Amino acid sequence: MRKKIVAGNWKCNTNLKEGIALASEVEKLYTQSGVKDVLTIVSPPFVHLTEVAKVLKNVKLSAQNCAAEPKGAFTGEVSAEMVKSTGAEFCIIGHSERREYYGDTNSILAKKVKLAMANGLTPIFCIGEVLAERESGKLFDVIKTQLQDGIFFLSAEEFGKVIIAYEPVWAIGTGVVATPAQAQEMHKFIREQISLKYGKSVADSTSILYGGSCKASNAKELFANPDVDGGLIGGAALKAEEFLGIITAF
Ligand code: 13P
Repeated sequence: MRKKIVAGNWKCNTNLKEGIALASEVEKLYTQSGVKDVLTIVSPPFVHLTEVAKVLKNVKLSAQNCAAEPKGAFTGEVSAEMVKSTGAEFCIIGHSERREYYGDTNSILAKKVKLAMANGLTPIFCIGEVLAERESGKLFDVIKTQLQDGIFFLSAEEFGKVIIAYEPVWAIGTGVVATPAQAQEMHKFIREQISLKYGKSVADSTSILYGGSCKASNAKELFANPDVDGGLIGGAALKAEEFLGIITAF
């Protein structure tokens, strides 16, 4: 059976002190809740990882990105090996903000995926269409290309470890959430693509998360869909109680 997962992407928010406080609160509330069957992950900024790792026990740790090169003269970059050495187990790769503002193309993302896997990190690989692509009916082609060019080079065994996050760009940070039917339609399509490439058993065991204006009040109806296995959460992950409301929404 595939896992239920809720991952919080803090993006470029919180200073170190605030980040440690938020992670401690999430750890405390999650542990007190007694929820055992929802893999809960936080993704603070790089510079918080080492310190946040110290306050987490039941909640898992992720980075938001990693370099496309293993090491060397790449000023300002943080390698997958460095991320792994902090205690992080996961790495978000291909977030639409990286694609849009930092030039992360599908081929660059493929290099990041390769390095993350080689260093024992589980990629949380993000895909999603912009509004114009949805409105012009190109949404399924866009998603297919993002999968094919960014991550479908993995072997079936490798792909079996990956988490996919569908984040329609028009829903990110806008307050406009995909309807449960829109989310289900795309998650089902994504699972079909995985099945075509890797077979039904890999597809059935891959967790596909929804992201984009997901919060405690709408998580239940999104997570009720058969192909929605949880969420990748932005703004609502910055408040521990709200985040817990999403973790307990299954
Ligand atoms: P919001 O939840 O703020 O819309 O952000 C979603 C997201 O981009 C998570 O990676």
